[in-house]
Amino acid sequence: MDRIGVLTSGGDNSGLNPCIRAVVRMGLHEGVEMMGIRRGYAGLIAGEIDEMDARDVGGILGRGGTILGTARAPEFETLQGRRKALRTLNRFDIDGLVVIGGNGSLTGALELHRLDFPTMGIPSTIDNDINGTDISIGVDTALNTILGAIDKIKDTASSHNRAFLIETMGRNSGYLALASGLAGGAELVLCPEIESTLDDVAETVEKAYIRGKAHAIIVVAEGWKPGTDEIARELNAREEELGFSVRVTRLGHVQRGGSPSAFDRILATRLGAEAVRQLVGGNSGHMVGWLNSDFHILPLDEAVTYQKELDKDLYNLSTIMDK
Ligand code: F6P
Repeated sequence: MDRIGVLTSGGDNSGLNPCIRAVVRMGLHEGVEMMGIRRGYAGLIAGEIDEMDARDVGGILGRGGTILGTARAPEFETLQGRRKALRTLNRFDIDGLVVIGGNGSLTGALELHRLDFPTMGIPSTIDNDINGTDISIGVDTALNTILGAIDKIKDTASSHNRAFLIETMGRNSGYLALASGLAGGAELVLCPEIESTLDDVAETVEKAYIRGKAHAIIVVAEGWKPGTDEIARELNAREEELGFSVRVTRLGHVQRGGSPSAFDRILATRLGAEAVRQLVGGNSGHMVGWLNSDFHILPLDEAVTYQKELDKDLYNLSTIMDK
């Protein structure tokens, strides 16, 4: 293998830059030319590609976002779009591709592999919903951002004796809400994977009040139904009965930015370097995950065909700790 391309695709997170750096530097170490592809699969189709050397990835280890840029690329989801991407890869003499991204991005890597183009995937999404890895790149930094927010909100919630609904990202995945709720001492966590009714939530707030707590913190994943606004409306209508009034904080995209944590920098460096080693060694169509403190190399279709399940033990633990 003489020339490897690298792209970041889908939703960004803190951890992409350390991963790009590791891919490029390991490639150069292996004697391979490295090509940076801008704007994910959209840039691949359009041929937005430049050679990268060790200096091009200098000074990015502590920077959030991605120096390559990222995009969602509907055209790549069609066979025609993927054929265009293959033409570009041939035009630039690229003979292997490292894809850093979430479920959709890794599915793209799988499709290219099925068209006989060598690819390796690296799991990177704050949702932490990819199979075959305990944790994806970007999750740890996002969790620490959420935790900082929960700690601050607790201060004001206690001062005013209020309940707070803190909404985390996670369209289909409750991981961020669960892990941050457990680490932040929330009274309740609402995840899309676990059914909780408006009455359950109201009961939690009332119990917190009766127990003499100064606040009630409820962490809600974005994808939980019926939704943060609906529950806020309901709780506020029942303020007299529940004891606490309610405020909402939606954390939004703040969770995707910021300097990557030490954990994310190390994880990103490990996975990025290993993906290149695998590609150079002749592997394709696989993802490099991190499972039980070691690399876990699994076929991409096993990683992406179904969503990783929420850790029910962790959820049960959170329901014991919320007293
Ligand atoms: O998949 C990662 C994620 O951050 C989800 O948690 C969130 O629902 C979504 O991306 C937001 O996407 P966008 O930045 O395109 O609005």
